[in-house]
Amino acid sequence: MDLPPDIALIAGTGIEAWPLDQARDFRLATPYGEVLVRLARFAGQDLLVVPRHGPGHSLPPHRVNSRGMIWALKGLGVTKVVASSAVGAIDPGLRPGDLRVVDDLLDFTRQRPLTFFDAPGQVRHVDMTDAYCPRLSALLKQAVGQPVGEGLLIYAATEGPRFETPAEIRALAQLGARVVGMTQAPEVTLAREAGLCYAAVAVVTNPAAGLGGERVEEAAIYAHLAEALGRFQDAFARFLGLLDASPGCERCPPAPEGLFPHLSLDGMDEGDGQR
Ligand code: HPA
Repeated sequence: MDLPPDIALIAGTGIEAWPLDQARDFRLATPYGEVLVRLARFAGQDLLVVPRHGPGHSLPPHRVNSRGMIWALKGLGVTKVVASSAVGAIDPGLRPGDLRVVDDLLDFTRQRPLTFFDAPGQVRHVDMTDAYCPRLSALLKQAVGQPVGEGLLIYAATEGPRFETPAEIRALAQLGARVVGMTQAPEVTLAREAGLCYAAVAVVTNPAAGLGGERVEEAAIYAHLAEALGRFQDAFARFLGLLDASPGCERCPPAPEGLFPHLSLDGMDEGDGQR
């Protein structure tokens, strides 16, 4: 097998339904459990895709194997990760179906394994000034056609799997959050620990609790995700084109040596990812 690509997509709810060309599914063993990695072709190039919620969308948000996914991608030689995450809109200017690039994170998750630096004697504190890679994020904003001057997009990560209460949403709004979702933490912070360039597209699926005059309904969320998939694919193709023409990143610090062993897809279990 040729070298795997150095760019990966972590496909969130809805976007994981993307029917990719020549897709081959691999089940990678990691110290954190098995991870499904899909090697596919898109827009004339190889792409690694990790369905965040695992085979057949089997993992609820609080059980997503974030350490396994990031560990696998890093070990496979990936340097750039783009992720999609479904979100509720706290900002009333955002509408279901909108795509927006995340600038910063408020982490209100409670019980997820949150670091690679976990062993006694392995005390590390990673800088989060640029949690999201500024270079990839700028290219993604161009690619999704994000209106300029809208202000920073702060994503509040909640534990789930329940949606928030209206009081929680009012509190998050006061803190500056414009969208709320269950999957960006600890994914983005682990990517930073691993020295990856990471950027995320928030796919707006609903007004957050108490804001739309209606309940937050899963069926409506899935309908908006299905409708957004085509626009996400188009934006991702534009992003890959822009990436080719852009100089490298100088803002994302590298990971410590020796923490992430090299991995290869050669000889790995190829199995049915049950899309
Ligand atoms: N809250 C949390 N996560 C979500 C939401 C929401 O309103 N919509 C989609 N994912």
